[in-house]
Amino acid sequence: MIDATVLLTGSTGFIGGATLAELLDSHAGCRTLLLVRGETATAAAERVRRSLGRFVDLARVESALKSCWVIHGDLTDPHSLDDARLSGSAPLLDVGPDKRQPAPRLEEVSHVLHLASNTSFRSVRGVRHTNILGAMMLAHRMRPVAGLKRFLYVGTAYCCGDGGGTIVHEDDSPRDGVRHIVEYTNSKAECEMLLENTAPELPLVVARPSVVVGHTRLGCRPSSSLFWFYRTVDLLRRYARPLDVREDVVPVDWVAQALLFLLFKPDLQHRRYHVSAGVGSCVTWHEISAVFARCCGERPENPFRIVDFATIESERDRIPALLGPGNVDHLLMALRLYFQFVTLDAEVFDNSRLLAEGMPPPPRFTSYLPLCATQSLSRSIFDQMRDDQ
Ligand SMILES: NC(=O)c1ccc[n+]([C@@H]2O[C@H](COP(=O)([O-])OP(=O)(O)OC[C@H]3O[C@@H](n4cnc5c(N)ncnc54)[C@H](OP(=O)(O)O)[C@@H]3O)[C@@H](O)[C@H]2O)c1
Repeated sequence: MIDATVLLTGSTGFIGGATLAELLDSHAGCRTLLLVRGETATAAAERVRRSLGRFVDLARVESALKSCWVIHGDLTDPHSLDDARLSGSAPLLDVGPDKRQPAPRLEEVSHVLHLASNTSFRSVRGVRHTNILGAMMLAHRMRPVAGLKRFLYVGTAYCCGDGGGTIVHEDDSPRDGVRHIVEYTNSKAECEMLLENTAPELPLVVARPSVVVGHTRLGCRPSSSLFWFYRTVDLLRRYARPLDVREDVVPVDWVAQALLFLLFKPDLQHRRYHVSAGVGSCVTWHEISAVFARCCGERPENPFRIVDFATIESERDRIPALLGPGNVDHLLMALRLYFQFVTLDAEVFDNSRLLAEGMPPPPRFTSYLPLCATQSLSRSIFDQMRDDQ
């Protein structure tokens, strides 16, 4: 049991929901403060319960819920972490006024896990506001906290941008002057640099997940985030690079465990860690496509064709027949961005640092893909895309 007071941001999101579920399950002794958007602390608490309920039966973690408090606030609002807001925080599980414990003060926080981010691939201003200004405000608010043991900042492995080779190592980035496909990855790279340069005394560790898809036990039920892309490519039989190129995909439950591992392990050898499949657990599209065929039946068109995005657009009439009815313009807009990512040099994000610290390797995508694929048959791709909006 760990005697820690954790401040977690992003608990209503995909990775944040899974991480909070894992925290409550495996570290029941922690006290946890959650910074969450909402009109009131009670409304924000309800949003967290809904997010958490996707991953865990709330009754099973009831006693741990009693040690969680929700501060309602926006990361970019300088008053969100004021004492007044903290004293108005809501317990995640209301046990009644006589049994209610006071929420911990911010000065008691020992570990920060900063997951909240604007993950939009389209926004520029909003992304920079949340991912740079918001993160910096949090870091600088927590800097003077004397008992702070770790500030785990969650970045992205794609902060490497383009031009770094096929196997990416942590210290290859962040670098200036790199081409980014979207402002989101650029903002995450810039924030890492700013944190390192402006708050050198912060006990900062950076965790960079690669591509997080599905859950090993729950499949895509909590969220179909990014899974729709793999289904689409499989059905269209079109991809932007050869099928023997490696894909670095990890499940959200393993990511949650890895983040808590990095949050609590007292002595870490490095400041930056990929939370990724790495060479040992990456998969190729040949393997992905074989699993889809096994679970959903052989596809009518074989083999795959390797094409550029202009070809996909010129063939838009194929889409309704293969994917069913839906907004094709919207799909193409999203696919265009993902195809651009696929053309980056990066294939695999080396995870040997994380494994050397003692974290077990992730399961391969193809080991739990059957669950995601069969479960998704009852949901259209267009519907699954909503999980990323
Ligand atoms: N998913 C992946 O494949 C992946 C890969 C690499 C890195 N990452 C990183 O992992 C982290 C979590 O990603 P995710 O996929 O779980 O994202 P997500 O599902 O989009 O969740 C984002 C979370 O951030 C919160 N948030 C956004 N803006 C906020 C603000 N201004 N104030 C307070 N909270 C705010 C959201 O709250 P609301 O519910 O109020 O919007 C939500 O809880 C991010 O830092 C992301 O960059 C993700």
